[in-house]
Amino acid sequence: MSHAASNAAQFRALYERSLKHPTGFWGDAAKSIDWFTPPKTVFDASQGVYGRWFPDGVMNTCYNAVDRHAATRPDQVAIIHDSPITGMKRKLTYRELRDEVSALGAVMQDYGVHKGDRVVIYMPMIPEALIAMLACARIGAIHSVVFGGFAARELATRLDDSHPKLILAASCGIEPGRVVHYKPLIDEAIELATHKPEGVIVFQRPQEKATLKAGRDHDWAELVQDANSAGKTSECVPVKSTDPLYILYTSGTTGKPKGVVRDNGGHAVAIHWTMKAIYSINPGEVFWSASDVGWVVGHSYIVYGPLLAGATTIVYEGKPVGTPDVGAFWRVISEHGAKALFTAPTAFRAIRKEDPNAEELKKYKFNDFRALFLAGERADPDTVKWAEDILGVPVIDHWWQTETGWAIAGNPFGLGQLPVKHGSPTVAMPGYDVRIVDEGGHPVGAGKMGSIVVKLPMPPSCLPTLWNADDRFRESYLSTYPGFYLTSDAGYIDGDGYLYIMGRTDDIINVAGHRLSTGGMEEVLASHPAVAECAVIGAKDALKGEQPCGFVVLKAGVSTPVEQIEKELVALVREKIGPVAAFKIAIVIKRLPKTRSGKILRGTMKKIADSDQWTMPATIDDPVILDEIKAALQSKGLAR
Ligand code: COA
Ligand code: AMP
Repeated sequence: MSHAASNAAQFRALYERSLKHPTGFWGDAAKSIDWFTPPKTVFDASQGVYGRWFPDGVMNTCYNAVDRHAATRPDQVAIIHDSPITGMKRKLTYRELRDEVSALGAVMQDYGVHKGDRVVIYMPMIPEALIAMLACARIGAIHSVVFGGFAARELATRLDDSHPKLILAASCGIEPGRVVHYKPLIDEAIELATHKPEGVIVFQRPQEKATLKAGRDHDWAELVQDANSAGKTSECVPVKSTDPLYILYTSGTTGKPKGVVRDNGGHAVAIHWTMKAIYSINPGEVFWSASDVGWVVGHSYIVYGPLLAGATTIVYEGKPVGTPDVGAFWRVISEHGAKALFTAPTAFRAIRKEDPNAEELKKYKFNDFRALFLAGERADPDTVKWAEDILGVPVIDHWWQTETGWAIAGNPFGLGQLPVKHGSPTVAMPGYDVRIVDEGGHPVGAGKMGSIVVKLPMPPSCLPTLWNADDRFRESYLSTYPGFYLTSDAGYIDGDGYLYIMGRTDDIINVAGHRLSTGGMEEVLASHPAVAECAVIGAKDALKGEQPCGFVVLKAGVSTPVEQIEKELVALVREKIGPVAAFKIAIVIKRLPKTRSGKILRGTMKKIADSDQWTMPATIDDPVILDEIKAALQSKGLAR
């Protein structure tokens, strides 16, 4: 049997076991985690919305990610902060990390934060962001990290949904050419929110000193220093496996984000399992995920995955290009001896655009760099092939969602790599019984497109529910096809069992690997006093995959010049949602194309914008409107 065939046979056997004997499979995986009380029950189908993993297990995620390594490998580097944008570099060993986390945990306990309380974290890519998350985990508090590219209103929505006792923040983030002033955004968010947190602990960065509001705001470094002087520490609080570790908000189909809940035990077991099986990372090795702690990739593979595995994680504060040059990624891999890099395809498209022959790469020597992992958006075969050619290592696409926390489909690189097929994130991972169904929920054959669903129960780490919203969870994910989790992605499975992810079935678009709701942007556009109606689509973009494009129809009698309104709309989305929405194109049109029953033809508009083949919808109200849309797009340099 060839190597590839034997890998495939072995993986198939392991996968079959995970579906037929999930308790054996995940029960074994759970042995790699330290428990205060090891679970007797691996899965209880009667608990929660669709069942709960390890319900009688008691553990602490911070203990597993920090303390157990601080005890056995105290001087090993846990975190490397590499920040070309500020020119700073710093390393923390596991012992130092434990001490910092323990002190911050004690500070939070002094402010009355206890098991089950929520803490919102609004921080850039600095070690303190990880320390904040781990300190919450240590004392049993539930963290909710908000990405720094979101505006005050988005932060306010999350405060009102999660009701945090405290906000942990930094004074600023740094983007190329500008300082992102966090404190005024936090002040505004608290002003906007109905729920007022009791305190804000601010880490003052050297680049900007934020003004602290007496009584409410506190200086992080001073509090930690006081705690240290007083000899205060915090212990790892035993929590139930099913207690939430964090809430991470992600775009839903409306402006109201969904609070994805992650439990402690299932998450630790699954994420730990992936570090070896998927990423092939051993304790002591350096792993780099070039994402942001504000996204799920950051939660799973900047913070928890590498640390649960006793590896070294790189916290990179910079971009793939321009900080300072297109060789930034190669420098980091080479300088820190990273064994693998995980990023979004858009980063490689950005590098390729500036350095198509990868001249910069020639300046660097890698030490046992083994693989590039891509996720977050479709990995276009062209980019994958380019990356393979220049790096000379396997390039592995894998597909997952905030909701799952780890790969639904991937290539088990650490167990034995399966052949790569460009355009496919390979096969379903253990525990995921992935099916393709038609609109009626009937399975479709190999190679046929349909809705991608996962048979319940979902494996450990997948969301047990949405925060305080079991009904919304059922309605959004479980009600369309009873017994199955709806991924809201469409695609197909080929004759070899390889999955192909072709796009979303809802209004979510993917901009530079960031998941955004067009519905949310429409709500903002519609709030402009001159706008009568609007539609936002994701138009194809060579760098970012998609870019949002808003069409608006003005109210009768509006006399403001169109160009001004378009500018105001771009500014409004930036102000209300944030720069991360990358909303740069607003087009005023006379009318929107609709069906006779009044449904806006967004799909056809997207095809026109993308210069794809399209057919006239039979139900269209007035076909001429589509010509108007094409002309409007062409006036902005879109649509051929
Ligand atoms: N805080 C504040 N603003 C932020 C931010 C943050 N943490 N992250 C991004 N932004 C801003 C950017 O500065 C930009 O603002 P601008 O309109 O003033 O230029 C805007 O949000 C859009 O950001 P982005 O879509 O990331 O575009 P970019 O032009 O800055 O960079 C890439 C493009 C491809 C280089 C960049 O997206 C990238 O590095 N992607 C890597 C993949 C990744 O991180 N994926 C996440 C999930 S895995
Ligand atoms: P997020 O929850 O932000 O991780 O976004 C999840 C969504 O991103 C998925 O539902 C997909 O639409 C898309 N996505 C993530 N990874 C991939 C991938 N490897 N291929 C195609 N789409 C992907």
